[in-house]
Amino acid sequence: MDLEALKREAALRAVALVRSGDRVGLGTGSTAKYAILEIGRKLAAGELTGVVGVATSEASDTLARQVGIPVEPLDPRPLDIAIDGADEIAPNLDLIKGLGGALLREKLTEVQARRFIVIADHTKLVEHIGEKSALPIEIARFGFLSTIERLRAVLPSGRLRQPGAQPYVTDNGNYIFDAQIPAGTDIAALERQLKGTLGVVDTGLFLGMAERAFVAAPDGVTELTPR
Ligand code: A5P
Repeated sequence: MDLEALKREAALRAVALVRSGDRVGLGTGSTAKYAILEIGRKLAAGELTGVVGVATSEASDTLARQVGIPVEPLDPRPLDIAIDGADEIAPNLDLIKGLGGALLREKLTEVQARRFIVIADHTKLVEHIGEKSALPIEIARFGFLSTIERLRAVLPSGRLRQPGAQPYVTDNGNYIFDAQIPAGTDIAALERQLKGTLGVVDTGLFLGMAERAFVAAPDGVTELTPR
């Protein structure tokens, strides 16, 4: 089974938790895409009714509308459920997110969800946060070189995300600084330090937020809760 098929398997398990009338946080990325497609399919087939989406990126907003999911902006009401992928999943379901660049809208949306469900293929599982993936950190464009200097004092390996001639720009008009987390780092302390760093908008650390994860491997989908 290829990774795409696994991502879809995980997504289908999460979408089975969506009920008619739910307000649903729609994630971003190659795994969350399958959840959006499945919600759209279920609405079209009459298997779900009255579902409204809140999209975590312009791309997911566009896809959701294309498949017939009504999309609303985020407002202060809680969401019934949010479904999204992750770049790393630790055993306690702490996450790294944001390699797709949508971390700020994802965090703003998913923190308001009564149930935040993570979907992934097995390659995203780690024992410790920072094991495989860099940590994306969204930073303001204004004064970004100064912010990067402050961030390098904390995470020396980091660099501005720049796929071509120009830096990558998020949906919010910001830049992203990607940094490896040194082994043995206290992740909660790192999050506090980064959030207290001038110029940082938010980080891709999603700590204590996920209720469960559906992780697909060739031998089936495992449902994980924090341990
Ligand atoms: C988007 O910014 C990310 O947080 C994604 O949720 C994460 O990168 C996982 O993406 P894939 O499902 O494409 O691996």
